[in-house]
Amino acid sequence: MNQPFTRHRRLRQSAAIRRMVRETTLQADDLIYPLFVTEEKNKKTEVPSMPGVYQFSLDRLNEEVGEVEKLGIPAIILFGIPSEKDACGSQAYAAEGIVQRAIRQVKHAFPNMVVIADTCLCEFTDHGHCGLVKEGDVLNDESLALLTKTAVSQAEAGADIIAPSNMMDGFVYAIRNGLDEAGFTDIPIMSYAVKYASAFYGPFRDAANSAPAFGDRKTYQMDAANREEALREAHSDVEQGADFLIVKPALSYLDIVREVKNETGMPLVAYNVSGEYAMVKAAAQNGWIDEKAMVMETLISMKRAGADLILTYHAKDVANWLKGS
Ligand code: PBG
Repeated sequence: MNQPFTRHRRLRQSAAIRRMVRETTLQADDLIYPLFVTEEKNKKTEVPSMPGVYQFSLDRLNEEVGEVEKLGIPAIILFGIPSEKDACGSQAYAAEGIVQRAIRQVKHAFPNMVVIADTCLCEFTDHGHCGLVKEGDVLNDESLALLTKTAVSQAEAGADIIAPSNMMDGFVYAIRNGLDEAGFTDIPIMSYAVKYASAFYGPFRDAANSAPAFGDRKTYQMDAANREEALREAHSDVEQGADFLIVKPALSYLDIVREVKNETGMPLVAYNVSGEYAMVKAAAQNGWIDEKAMVMETLISMKRAGADLILTYHAKDVANWLKGS
């Protein structure tokens, strides 16, 4: 060896060389933008704990989707805020439910926008749990029938992808069968395969008005301490026919993103959740961080960890920044 040490800095000496050896990229195509829709009229209401994120009424939704499309973001995911809730979440699977109407409207106005439907009951149940409740328990198998009905009604409304987030066992199996029987064999399932019971969902529950009225979600969402269980969750969803897997939250779980990617090789989505967004926004509003630099670093680290796609409230900002770079 005629040199005493390796000079790693040779490949960092100019912006152009750094670009040439960059291993990971981030582009607008990687992004999925979440949108909250309400049944009110003429409303664009900012979510207090999520500055820059709004609840949109249907008559204000198209302006927003138009902007998303212009920015080159290929997909949105819709969350509904119904005006009425009941014990079995019937507005989740009503043909005229808020999400079904939003899907129809968006697909009509923007046929090329990929519309993903979040399939869960918690925004629609008066108790705020993701399934049916009996004597304080969230019932698994009884909930599957309603979740399947929800997915089929979303597909009937024109959803391009079904994203079940409820964490009942067997939801991919049940929903795949339901979609196939209804003739939707080509509608992919983007499964929230690995979803932890997380404090990082707090602001979302404000935005979607979906906090559980009693108890928590720890009997169905995963324990933050578990890694091997995440792989079991991922494998079972792949076996049941999932087309994409989601790991959620993202930032504290990048080890899980990497392992799920390595183990399954499936198209993988990291969900950069509401609490992750709120932390960055709060620090940025105080002038404590460089928001753009921090968001770009966060998202590239999710790609580096193995995510193919990132579901993020920062998507519009990021797409804008990428245009300028
Ligand atoms: C519905 C759902 C939740 C999120 C996405 N889908 C809330 C929850 O499980 O309590 C959270 C998203 C976020 O925090 O950004 N089950």
